[in-house]
Amino acid sequence: MKTAMKGLILSGGRGNRLRPLTYTRAKQLIAIAGKPALFYGVEDLVAAGIRDIGVVISPETGDEVRHALGDGSRWGVRFTYLIQRAPLGLADAVRSARAFLQNSPFVMYLGDNLLSGGIAHLITEYRNNSPSAIILVTPVEDPRQFGVVVLNGHGRVARLVEKPVEPPSNLALVGVYLFDPGIHDVIDSLLPSARGEYEITDAIQGLVDRGRAVMVHQVRGWWKDTGRPEDLLEANRLVLSQVSRDVQGHVCDSELVGEVVVEAGARITNSTVRGPAYIGADSVVDESYIGPYTSLGKGTTVYRSEVEYSILLDGAEVRHLPYRLDASLLGVNATADGQRNGVRRHALRLVLGDLSQVLL
Ligand code: G1P
Repeated sequence: MKTAMKGLILSGGRGNRLRPLTYTRAKQLIAIAGKPALFYGVEDLVAAGIRDIGVVISPETGDEVRHALGDGSRWGVRFTYLIQRAPLGLADAVRSARAFLQNSPFVMYLGDNLLSGGIAHLITEYRNNSPSAIILVTPVEDPRQFGVVVLNGHGRVARLVEKPVEPPSNLALVGVYLFDPGIHDVIDSLLPSARGEYEITDAIQGLVDRGRAVMVHQVRGWWKDTGRPEDLLEANRLVLSQVSRDVQGHVCDSELVGEVVVEAGARITNSTVRGPAYIGADSVVDESYIGPYTSLGKGTTVYRSEVEYSILLDGAEVRHLPYRLDASLLGVNATADGQRNGVRRHALRLVLGDLSQVLL
């Protein structure tokens, strides 16, 4: 019998490009349509029949990730937490997971990646053809932010480069990979890249150099790496474009148009919500307009304001805003209030933390 396929979810890293949100929070836990980005990857692994999942965490945000995911029983699977001491790259993360992975083939899923087509087809491919690795690729506009793959004329991998200044192709390496245990020897022989990390892209190149079979699949549907704020908003749009109307909360004197999710305990009064939109549990929307592609987390408040194409994380509050809030991201318990001492302001008064951004 073949060894069962394991899963490896990566949830470490510092999330520098998502500051200031990630000063206090693991980037993979930022909620998209009410669910942490990380959960979408877990659900893809579970749906593909994987039951034994390693979760690579960092010393800084590991406890928070552990707390959010639990032991796996919620999904009927088992999580094993593995600490990566320092953010030394994706190949180093695999090295940190070696004792867990043993000699099993595994699917590695970056916790900040979202994929609409699932991963079951990778596992079927592995069962049928037993390659050393299967990678997922998709054409992108700016390949310089990704690992880039060059194919030869027969659809095979010719070479891979991590974040090239001058991309040799527009095919980005998606953050979901399937490996057989042969990857460990290659990782052991890797040298750090120019940015000082052990790159999984270089490890895959190592497989190619050794003449091992590396198969390539094109992404089915959409894929999003949520590394930057604009990517989170775009991921939110993509996820919301798949939701169906489901109203559990209380709606009074309001108009809900199209695909709107209102979780239990939420109250929408004297407002218009134009879907697709997600209103989290215990949120209050009053005398307001919520436009398409907006996600409100748990316990948020929107009062006498307009919000569109935005994410408000748990407990965030927006009141009396003189302008429509658009393409914005408000962190947990962040507040934006346009009124003081009972007077609605048309000037701005701001209290902003390090690296905050106000785009007017
Ligand atoms: C990582 C990989 C890169 C891949 C990307 C996908 O990049 O190094 O090859 O294209 O994930 O999300 P990073 O998260 O380090 O920017």
